[in-house]
Amino acid sequence: MRQPPVHLLKQMNIFIMEGFMILFVSCVTVRVNLCSPNMPSLKILPLDGHFNFHEVHHAARDFGNRYQFLPMAVLHPKTVSDIATVVKHIWDMGPHSELTVAARGHGHSLQGQSQAHRGIVVHMESLKGPEIQVYTGNFPYADVSGGELWINILHESLKFGLAPKSWTDYLHLTVGGTLSNAGISGQAFRHGPQISNVRQLEVVTGKGEIVYCSEGQNDDLFHGVLGGLGQFGIITRARISLEAAPARVRWIRVLYSDFAAFTRDQEHLISGENSFNYVEGFVIINRTGLLNNWRLSFNPKDPVQASQFKSDGRTLFCLELAKYFSPDKTDIINQEVENLLSELSYIPSTLFVSEVTYTDFLDRVHVSEMKLRSKDLWDIPHPWLNLLIPKSKIHTFAQGVFGNILTETSNGPILIYPVNRSKWDNRTSVVIPEEHIFYLVAFLTSAVPSSTGTDGLEHILIQNKRILEFCETANLGVKQYLPHYTKQEEWQVHFGPRWEKFVQRKSTYDPLAILAPGQRIFQKATPFS
Ligand SMILES: Cc1cc2nc3c(=O)[nH]c(=O)nc-3n(C[C@H](O)[C@H](O)[C@H](O)COP(=O)(O)OP(=O)(O)OC[C@H]3O[C@@H](n4cnc5c(N)ncnc54)[C@H](O)[C@@H]3O)c2cc1C
Ligand SMILES: *[C@@H]1O[C@H](CO)[C@@H](O)[C@H](O)[C@H]1NC(C)=O
Ligand SMILES: *[C@@H]1O[C@H](CO)[C@@H](O)[C@H](O)[C@H]1NC(C)=O
Ligand SMILES: *[C@@H]1O[C@H](CO)[C@@H](O)[C@H](O)[C@H]1NC(C)=O
Repeated sequence: MRQPPVHLLKQMNIFIMEGFMILFVSCVTVRVNLCSPNMPSLKILPLDGHFNFHEVHHAARDFGNRYQFLPMAVLHPKTVSDIATVVKHIWDMGPHSELTVAARGHGHSLQGQSQAHRGIVVHMESLKGPEIQVYTGNFPYADVSGGELWINILHESLKFGLAPKSWTDYLHLTVGGTLSNAGISGQAFRHGPQISNVRQLEVVTGKGEIVYCSEGQNDDLFHGVLGGLGQFGIITRARISLEAAPARVRWIRVLYSDFAAFTRDQEHLISGENSFNYVEGFVIINRTGLLNNWRLSFNPKDPVQASQFKSDGRTLFCLELAKYFSPDKTDIINQEVENLLSELSYIPSTLFVSEVTYTDFLDRVHVSEMKLRSKDLWDIPHPWLNLLIPKSKIHTFAQGVFGNILTETSNGPILIYPVNRSKWDNRTSVVIPEEHIFYLVAFLTSAVPSSTGTDGLEHILIQNKRILEFCETANLGVKQYLPHYTKQEEWQVHFGPRWEKFVQRKSTYDPLAILAPGQRIFQKATPFS
């Protein structure tokens, strides 16, 4: 066996601590493949697409770059019935087969959620047909594949002057992947998350049935799948609400040193109807380092940028805003933006304004991705931590964490912005705090491989742990977004009063626990109750 590099060994220690079996080395794969008794029966299934039993390594990694579980095979489906056939086949094998199925969108999970140890990974991006269909009219929408990337939906709908309403910060993610979580960004305060902007789904359940669902038809499955962490079905098609797309975006950043003033302004901005179209923000603590530049590309021509503001020793809060407009309305937009800004109490000398196309605005993180890729800083471990924090506790949280547990933000940005619960549908599966307003706080860290310093994986994981412990001790009522737990009791706490419903849906739509095993909520062939 080849000796794994030192930083992998270090990671292995961490994994062992957490009690995981990790397969790193390729010779193990071969043995697993040859020994599998399930392979022959899969090989003879009638499919439009195909299985690959050999090139499976890419399906054993994800954006988090920390967990690697080798599947037995990767399914490249051409049609929905390919997916249904395979799931049905496994369903028919009954509880004694250990085979599981994980839909893999773009593999941008953080902790193995789209992986299936010795199971089947469905490469959802292969499911291209039928192509994206855009419908114009009073309530425009697009019908898209569950494996479609949001960036492709943007390009296609723009041909009709339309675009989806609610986004994620990064568009190289799939519809099925973000709808299984929520899809939260700076538009969510107005439109709700992406799961609030879907009208209809086509789903393959854990029994291999193809089911259409919406508010009016199979509504329990419809709501269950949204934010359902892939537990109840594989989303093969989705109907996404569209709106008229703006041509241009006024993109604004202003700085605060006072956290109370910063959050007061954020909350004020999300409460007004006639406000900005996008409200986010981020924290800058004692800023140094390169990784912090990721996601923060602003105006490449402007050498002075809010995100590059040196904050040596200090903590600053950057409010990020966008106002959409059409070029013939420049005068009106100038006046509106000026009025809105006049109500805010940021540090007067820190107004940074830029103007970009709608596409450039939405696809902004891709620019950072290219930069980081060119420096080999993209495919590195991402020990991200995403929290949803009730508004009433955000000051306690900030006091305990910013400048205290965290003494710098050189490992990556920390996003922070409020959303309004009334735009979320409580019939969906997503778990959010109880209060009317809650904050998304996203620690988007990158770990430098082999580093033992403050930018190393171990250091960041300890920091994450301290943050979670602080939330727990201070009883903040925090919920994790893109949650990750390894024990069912922890999941039960995560879901709280919603656990019963979640289990009930599982027993209805995927009773053998075939789907999305990488979430580690239910285990195949173990009865859940
Ligand atoms: C750079 C970056 C920026 C991000 N920004 C945001 C953001 O602003 N807001 C936000 O909300 N999230 C954000 N995310 C998180 C993102 O929503 C998740 O990574 C999500 O998992 C989507 O990624 P994916 O399409 O690659 O899905 P995968 O990681 O492949 O899958 C995620 C989960 O969903 C399941 N799944 C995948 N496809 C389907 C399907 N068709 N049907 C049913 N289940 C399925 C998988 O089995 C897995 O359990 C960001 C991620 C990255 C890497
Ligand atoms: C949240 O949204 C609802 C519905 O639009 C609105 O009535 C309410 O005032 C908002 N709450 C806050 C605090 O902004
Ligand atoms: C800021 O960062 C520098 C360099 O990492 C460090 O030496 C200094 O102690 C930090 N200051 C504070 C106040 O944390
Ligand atoms: C969802 O919200 C509605 C209206 O606020 C409430 O009546 C209902 O009980 C809630 N349902 C759940 C499951 O929490």
